[in-house]
Amino acid sequence: MYLYSLSVTDFKYLFNPRHVAVVGASHSEGKIGYTVLKNIIDSGYKGRIYPINPKGGEILGKKVYTDIFSVDGEIDLALIVVPASIAVSAVEACAKKGVKFAIVITSGFSEIGNIDAEREMVEKAREYGMRILGPNVFGIYSAVPPINATFGPSKVRPGNIAVISQSGALGIAMIGKTAEENMGLSTIVSIGNKADITEADILKYVFNDDITKVAFLYIEGLENGKEFMELVKNKPDEMKIVAIKAGRSKVGARAVASHTGSLAGSDKIFDAAFKQSGVLRADSLEEGFNWVATLAACPRPAGNNVVIITNGGGIGVLAADACEKYGVKLAGDMELLKRTFGDVIPKFGSYKNPVDLTGQAGGEDYREALERALKDDNIHAVIALYCQTDMTPLEPLMDTFLEMQKKYGSKKPIIYSLFGGEGTAKLLEELKGKGIPAFEDVEDAVSSLNALYRAYEKKEEGKVENIEMDECGIRRVIQSVAEEGRRQLLGTEAKEVMKAAGMDVPPFRVAKSINEAVEAAGEIGYPVVMKVVSEDIVHKTDIGGVLLDIDNEKEVVEGYEAILRNCKQYAPKANIRGVEIAKMVPDGVETIVGATTDPSFGKVLMFGLGGIYVEVLKDVAFRVAPVSRREISRMMREVNSYPLLLGVRGESRRDIDSVADAIYRIGILVNRFPEISELDINPLVVYEKGAKVLDARINIEVKK
Ligand code: COA
Repeated sequence: MYLYSLSVTDFKYLFNPRHVAVVGASHSEGKIGYTVLKNIIDSGYKGRIYPINPKGGEILGKKVYTDIFSVDGEIDLALIVVPASIAVSAVEACAKKGVKFAIVITSGFSEIGNIDAEREMVEKAREYGMRILGPNVFGIYSAVPPINATFGPSKVRPGNIAVISQSGALGIAMIGKTAEENMGLSTIVSIGNKADITEADILKYVFNDDITKVAFLYIEGLENGKEFMELVKNKPDEMKIVAIKAGRSKVGARAVASHTGSLAGSDKIFDAAFKQSGVLRADSLEEGFNWVATLAACPRPAGNNVVIITNGGGIGVLAADACEKYGVKLAGDMELLKRTFGDVIPKFGSYKNPVDLTGQAGGEDYREALERALKDDNIHAVIALYCQTDMTPLEPLMDTFLEMQKKYGSKKPIIYSLFGGEGTAKLLEELKGKGIPAFEDVEDAVSSLNALYRAYEKKEEGKVENIEMDECGIRRVIQSVAEEGRRQLLGTEAKEVMKAAGMDVPPFRVAKSINEAVEAAGEIGYPVVMKVVSEDIVHKTDIGGVLLDIDNEKEVVEGYEAILRNCKQYAPKANIRGVEIAKMVPDGVETIVGATTDPSFGKVLMFGLGGIYVEVLKDVAFRVAPVSRREISRMMREVNSYPLLLGVRGESRRDIDSVADAIYRIGILVNRFPEISELDINPLVVYEKGAKVLDARINIEVKK
């Protein structure tokens, strides 16, 4: 029974508690319960602090209460730092006292299999409406009170970045790293075992806390991927999310029967979900920090025209290469460049982008060039590069950078890359210390600017409209398969479903005798394909169960006999239901369209080109279903072999809309029939006009 339960708005008591207790505050320096208390005091927390310890006495000048009930006033937040054996009763006592949030730092729960105690702890808390962060967390830092209720480093700089980490140790390291990089935090939270509060709860709060501009997430897994996507899609426009997702290398360990399922490692689905919902996924912690620093510091770029200003040709070319690699667009209007920079560069320099001020350029030259770029409305972002030359002193350069930053830093993105010795290292340090995005490696600078552009990309999601399909027909097929106790549809049944879903399936019939086969082929029209129909034979071609290019009645008769003979010889126990006679269609570009079911994100769609592209190169793209036509178009273009559909080497352009339509229909089909757990159309053959389903495979999971 819940007496009351805290809503999202009440999360202010977690991030901005009026009074806090430390249950397990220790008298011994070095213990976690001591450090947490010390950090709270040292962070300048203004509310009342209640150390709780049955030994009583005083710790760090604070009166110690022997139990939580001896505290007179209200407590919004309690930090639990007693061993696991007494943590549940400590939580229960807090809940009874009316504490609103408990952060259970204690380890030794579900992460080591102690699931029951963790469940009991949450139940006890919920009985009184208390919410739990953890267990197995390092605590919380929040800039607003301010409060540092962690056992991590004591010094945290307040700012506009929220760090949410599923890993405790990494989270603590991130406190240190953000301090070293001079990054300002609005909050840092570890969510640990997520027994109650999840990253979604935390995100909901920081999206509206009025200080956070960038959320930096470290995720190992999500229990409810769909909910996460919805939440992120509806975040305020100005809020940016960078995520590190661990486990890129791991392929989902699910038992899957389809091609799509085996290609869809859970990590690829995360990739797709992040793309769809606008989360920037960084490959490494370093990259993540670079992006976060840039997003936190820079305003929205007003357009795509980027100018590189450099004192070195080589580093300028490296930057231009990186821009090409990341898709950052360099201003290329020569008139504009000449007009803006023509008279500030020496004769042997270049006004073309990169604007090369040449090796002797110092603070004044940079000031002139930067100011012109930053003043010009046709230039939307600037990459300022500097290679240490020892031709000019560094102080004037630094003065210029700081002056430009002050004048224009909030209006236009300026990203710095400084390369050289001790002097530039000091400059870098100083710039970073002031929260300015500055990097040693030019590639990091460009990658970060690209992240900024991507973060502000306006993504028209597009609507998912309803489309007509023969739902009764589809249901009938699925039901009859389920009634037989099968989980996989026959190829012919799968094609029935495809037809009912509105796909173009070449005519086919199942013949149970030679006469029926001849009649079917005559009706369908030659040439035809003959294929054994049996749920027991998976690799039909390998055992001689498939014959192509059957041109006349005689070949049908011989073919029928040959198929039955081969099956009898190589699969004597197989249940043969007949022979499929299908219209043989001309060659086209083979594609694969599929769907699978992910435990966290639900239905997922896949697209790729067939043959080696999917088998060897695994060149496929995923999206969480259902998807709009616009998103399908983005998904298709993500595949490297996509240009083959556009027509290469004199080949004609293929009917891309028909493929998009097939993916769209599959998205709607699997959402409407969730019992379809896996599906492959392999191949979907694409012509100049139209796309045909040649073969399909469907698995179902019908709940009894
Ligand atoms: N209420 C309040 N305090 C109590 C208590 C009670 N019912 N019973 C005992 N205490 C006191 C102890 O007397 C002790 O104080 P003291 O040092 O002054 O004697 C204090 O609480 C701590 O208890 P102790 O038994 O010394 O525990 P500990 O400090 O060795 O360990 C944890 C406690 C929570 C730190 C430890 O169990 C743990 O889980 N460590 C891992 C934490 C972690 O890594 N979390 C994840 C981070 S990402």
